[in-house]
Amino acid sequence: MNFIWRHLADKDRAIRYAARVALEWQHPAWWENTALDEKEPRKAIAALVALARVSNKDEFHRKPTDPKPDAALQGRILAALDRIEWSKLGNSDRLDLMRAYTLAFTRLGPPDEGTRRRLTAKFDPLFPAQTRELNAELCQMLVYLQAPSAAARLMAALRAAPTQEEQMEYARALRVLKTGWTLPLREEYFRWFLKADNFKGGASLAGFIRNMKNDAINTLSEDEKTALKPVLEARPERKSPQELLAGRQLVKEWKVNELVPTVERGLKGGRNFERGRKLFGAAGCAACHRFDNDGAAVGPDLTSVAGRFSVRDLLESIVEPSKEISDQYGAVAIRKKNGDVVTGRVGNLNGDVLMVIENMFAPNDFTNVKRQDIESMQPSKVSMMPEGLLNSLKEDEIQDLAAFLLSRGDRNSKMFR
Ligand code: HEC
Repeated sequence: MNFIWRHLADKDRAIRYAARVALEWQHPAWWENTALDEKEPRKAIAALVALARVSNKDEFHRKPTDPKPDAALQGRILAALDRIEWSKLGNSDRLDLMRAYTLAFTRLGPPDEGTRRRLTAKFDPLFPAQTRELNAELCQMLVYLQAPSAAARLMAALRAAPTQEEQMEYARALRVLKTGWTLPLREEYFRWFLKADNFKGGASLAGFIRNMKNDAINTLSEDEKTALKPVLEARPERKSPQELLAGRQLVKEWKVNELVPTVERGLKGGRNFERGRKLFGAAGCAACHRFDNDGAAVGPDLTSVAGRFSVRDLLESIVEPSKEISDQYGAVAIRKKNGDVVTGRVGNLNGDVLMVIENMFAPNDFTNVKRQDIESMQPSKVSMMPEGLLNSLKEDEIQDLAAFLLSRGDRNSKMFR
């Protein structure tokens, strides 16, 4: 037992996991009290996760003959979790702690009213946190607890979220929130679904978003449904690239030569990771590029540009995208026998028809070209990436965006100190 216990706090995640599973195979009577009394946060979290997991099955797996959830044990587990000081934990231990709380509810039943209020007061000020993963956990917890402030605060987070993935996390959590809504917030929420129709992803994305919306509609009263009728029945907005980037003014037609020294100076320190990340969304990059698992995959993944590009190369590929076109993501120019030219990426082949994506912002809109109508096909000399995307950014914004792009996703890089 000592052997298992020691490894619950191993610095290797895989070993921690193995130790916890080993613990779960021991009879809980031997270690329940040790788990509840453990002072070291990492060990305590792992042991309490184990305890919640073995103490009862979740509703879905529970048979009628299984013992009822033990409310007293839940109270003791929650009290032990409450003793762990959030401010002393790193990001990954905080994630584990959130998971322990979640398990205490899914395995041992929903909290009573007093506990619900106490935990709402505890988690409310912790949101928003530093990282996206943690925010995803916290917002689900606030919704689970039906925190009165959740509607306003998660809508603010949804409004500010730069990428479609992050927006979807908030929207998904909000779909089952029943309290704290005002009519304008509800309306804004349902308006988001109209915008989400422009999102790009796998074939199941549209269905996923539709289910989310249906779940949300199910939480509405009849009066609310009537009041929200216009937005519930509105047709999705199809937006052009220009409109998607709208709201930003022209700052300057930036040239590579003037930006190189500016950006190099900027990378020495004092950059703002979070602002760089937001600009990756606001300047349109996330509509085509992935970075650290966020964003769309129309263009190359940019997470590792730090290893492949100098500052000058990076700025060149943004300011003058057509100067050097990556062959894997290049477009073709198709000249038809009637003289028309169709430029884009061949998204699909359907028998004798080439389905061409002309506008990367609308990858589901195809222009069909029949093979027998084609005179010639050549790699296009024009990139699918629009020019001038930096022209609506100020100098220090470009510095932050460049630092973000060169960070590989590490917000602790010295560029941000
Ligand atoms: C409409 C889609 C689209 C948008 C918006 C877009 N890009 Fe691109 N980008 C592409 C495509 C497609 C390529 C690959 C073809 C090429 O090299 O021109 C590319 C290439 C790049 C490259 C070179 C990557 C490599 O591996 O060769 C960089 C760097 C880059 N983009 C950065 C950005 C940044 C930063 C933004 C936002 C300011 C942005 N892009 C916005 C589509 C886009």
